[in-house]
Amino acid sequence: MNLRVVGFDEIENMDPSWFPMAFEYLGHGGSTYGDTYKSDKFIWMLAVQDGENPPPVGVVCITADRVLPKSCHVSVLEVRSDVRSRGYGKNIMAAVESMCGDLSLLSLTLQTRDLSLVPYYQKLGFKSTHDHEGLRYMRKYLTKSP
Ligand SMILES: CC(C)(COP(=O)(O)OP(=O)(O)OC[C@H]1O[C@@H](n2cnc3c(N)ncnc32)[C@H](O)[C@@H]1OP(=O)(O)O)[C@@H](O)C(=O)NCCC(=O)NCCS
Repeated sequence: MNLRVVGFDEIENMDPSWFPMAFEYLGHGGSTYGDTYKSDKFIWMLAVQDGENPPPVGVVCITADRVLPKSCHVSVLEVRSDVRSRGYGKNIMAAVESMCGDLSLLSLTLQTRDLSLVPYYQKLGFKSTHDHEGLRYMRKYLTKSP
């Protein structure tokens, strides 16, 4: 797998049907979130490629956690539907954790409305912290603290 960091301009040139969730998040399709996440809260968006110049297989958007200090939040993780269950999601998250670790961050957080995904995130090392308004909040410590 060949990980590559891309900017917003490049993401916006991708085919929106590959990553509908990420595109909605970025403010396409009438959503108003785009400007918010183009603010300084935004940390990275990674597009992941595998092999020589193919279309990207996945994207992940990372923001600063709004509550927890020294923590990042996985705002979107999306793998192209035709290449799921090949380990891309797991490898993208491993890359994100490595980047967060390099920045000496304490933890990575996420939230999901789809409770069927909870076991998947548990397998990646996340633990549930609480539920709020239909969302499950999860956290993974990147160091040995708590
Ligand atoms: C969730 C997602 C990122 C996983 O990516 P992936 O590359 O397919 O994941 P991996 O290959 O690392 O792991 C696959 C395993 O994840 C689990 N999994 C994936 N999606 C799941 C879902 N919706 N419900 C339950 N388990 C799921 C399965 O156990 C699967 O195992 P299998 O190989 O036996 O089928 C991908 O399914 C996706 O993009 N979904 C749509 C967007 C989304 O819901 N994102 C998360 C919220 S932001």
